[in-house]
This record gives sequence, structure tokens and C-alpha cells, in this order.
Amino acid sequence: MKDGKILTLAIESSCDETAAAVIAEGREVLSNIISSQIEIHKQYGGVVPEIASRHHLNNVNTVVDQALEEAGVTIDDVDMIGVTYGPGLVGALLIGLATAKAYALAADKPLIGVHHIHGHICANYIQHKELEPPFMALVISGGHTNIVEVEDYNTCRVLGGTRDDAAGEAYDKVARVLGLGYPGGPLIDKIAREGDPEAVEFKRVFLEKGSLDFSFSGIKTGVLNYINSEKQAGREVSVPDVAAGFQAAVLDVIVAKTVGAAVDMGKDKIVLAGGVAANSMLREMLEKECAKHGLKLYYPAPVLCTDNAAMIGCAAYYKYMAGERDDLTLDAIPNLKL
Ligand code: KG4
Ligand code: ZN
Repeated sequence: MKDGKILTLAIESSCDETAAAVIAEGREVLSNIISSQIEIHKQYGGVVPEIASRHHLNNVNTVVDQALEEAGVTIDDVDMIGVTYGPGLVGALLIGLATAKAYALAADKPLIGVHHIHGHICANYIQHKELEPPFMALVISGGHTNIVEVEDYNTCRVLGGTRDDAAGEAYDKVARVLGLGYPGGPLIDKIAREGDPEAVEFKRVFLEKGSLDFSFSGIKTGVLNYINSEKQAGREVSVPDVAAGFQAAVLDVIVAKTVGAAVDMGKDKIVLAGGVAANSMLREMLEKECAKHGLKLYYPAPVLCTDNAAMIGCAAYYKYMAGERDDLTLDAIPNLKL
């Protein structure tokens, strides 16, 4: 405790960002350090788990030291240590978890394990000081696409998820097919602005009536087939048009299901979270649909959309306030359910 405020030191290492943050009273960011490995994994076209673990190991202590220093506190000032324990890459998770446990043991601080998706949702509490549950959340990243009913700070119910690829994964795969580079999401977001979303039509996959699940694996094949048939016919492929068409097909489904879920379940707010939440077209389309249905839309700043530890610190704070504690037997769970 410092200045009477409850402080959280948080650590996140579930994928390719080594991150640590110090948060006051759950929502006030005192420091938010992110050491990204994107440049390293770029050359492989995606995250290589073994390489990610090694870099986490090299960086984690420096990142934690920086977070404490920038916040102007020491480990003794901190009231708890929050850490992501799943889902994610097991080797990557283990580095953050072992570090958090070591600090908890050495400084005699409570340890709070956080679900990565719950963290993404909590990024919105940091961004929007007035935001309170309940609401409908859309968590959309490289690893997840979930519609989540958030009942209170610590109770979430997953209403639907992807049956194959996550939305971000589809963006990354299609970007690779189009020769755009990695990570593909921001590149497609940008180039699609120059294209016509109606020039090339891809199938919208809604699955069974009433289902809030998604399936995005077919669209990559759809894009590949389109490119091949155009090439065979000797026609030139317009990358902006394909990117715009792909994005329209994916986002039509996501927006319809998310807004439908909020309306059906009587929610008046939709909260966006995860890396793909930075997508400009998704935000525009959701803004429009939300306005039609009298819903308010919330989303975090880009730095809080992608993986960071501030969001983990916020989630840990609310668990701590509810009396939840973990101990040193806490294990990394790569496929942890919400
Ligand atoms: O949340 P995140 O940083 O990591 C995971 O937990 O997966 O999300 C990364 C994903 C990548 O697939 C990336 O391509 C996608 O988010 N992404 C975007 C945009 N910015 C990042 N996708 C679409 N449009 C964007 N502007
Ligand atoms: Zn994430």
C-alpha cells in the first residue's frame, strides 16, 4: 500500500509479449512495460513457442524492474502479485508464473492468478473509469474469438466461441496468402480501406440458427481458391479488394452475432477487447449497429487492446477485493476455460 492506495504488480507472458505493470486501485496505471517479440517472430511468419519462452526468460526480470521503477515503488509497497496462468503457450506462461511466484514468496505477498481473456475484458475498466458490469463483451484476438456475458467483476459466461481459427488468426493467414506480412491484422485493416468490400464476395458462415459460435477456417481456403482461379483465368488480383471482401465477410458475422446477443440478453453495453479490437472497420460497423439498437460501445486504446500486464493487474485487483487468493501450487493451464 502506498498513499493509501492498493497496488498490484502484474505479469503477463502468455504469448509473445513479456509485460509487467503496476496498477493502483485496479484502474490507475502507474507503469505498463511491454517488451514485444514481434520483430523476432516476424521472420517465421508467426509465433514460435520455444523461441518465445527463451525470450520471456531473458526479459522478464528487466521488465518487472522497469515496471516497479517507473511506478516509483518497490516490491515491498505492492499489495499483491497478479499473473496470467492461462490460456496461452505453456512454456511462455510458465516463465511469467514462476517469476510471479518467486516475488510472492520472497516478498510475502498474495498471489492472484488471472485468466488472460478476463484480463482483456478488464482493459476497458482502465480505459473507461465509469464502466461497470453487467455488459456483453466481444473478445477477439490472435488466439480467441468469444462472446462473453459479463455479469459482475468476477463472473463471466462464455456464450460462444470459434470452432476452428480465431478471427486474428484468420486475418494473419489471409494476410500471408496475400503476401502482406505479419502480423496481418493491422496490414489488412489498412489496405482494405483502399478496396471495395463488394467487389469480391466471400461466404458468411453463421452456423446453426441461434448459435453464437464462429468458424473462420473456411475463409482462408475461399481466398486461396479465388486467387488461384483469377490467376488461371489470367486476371489480375486486386489485393485491396480481396482484403476488403475478406474483412466484410468476417466482420458481418461477428457484428451481427455480438449485437444480437446483447439485444437478446437485455444488455445496454458492448465492450470490445483483444488485439483485433483495434480494427478500424470493426469499430465503425459496431458503432453503427449499436446506435441502431440504443447500445453503448466501449473499447480500449490500442496499447490496451494487445497483450499487456495492466489489464492483468486490473483483473487481479477485483479478484483480490473479492477475497480470492492463489498459492504457490498454481499451475500454468494452456487451455484454461473461462
Ligand atoms: O490480443 P493479441 O495482441 O494477442 C493474442 O492474445 O492473440 O492479438 C493479436 C492479434 C493478431 O492476430 C493481429 O493480427 C490482430 O490481433 N490485430 C488486428 C489489428 N491489430 C492487431 N486485427 C485486425 N485489425 C487490426 N487493426
Ligand atoms: Zn491476448
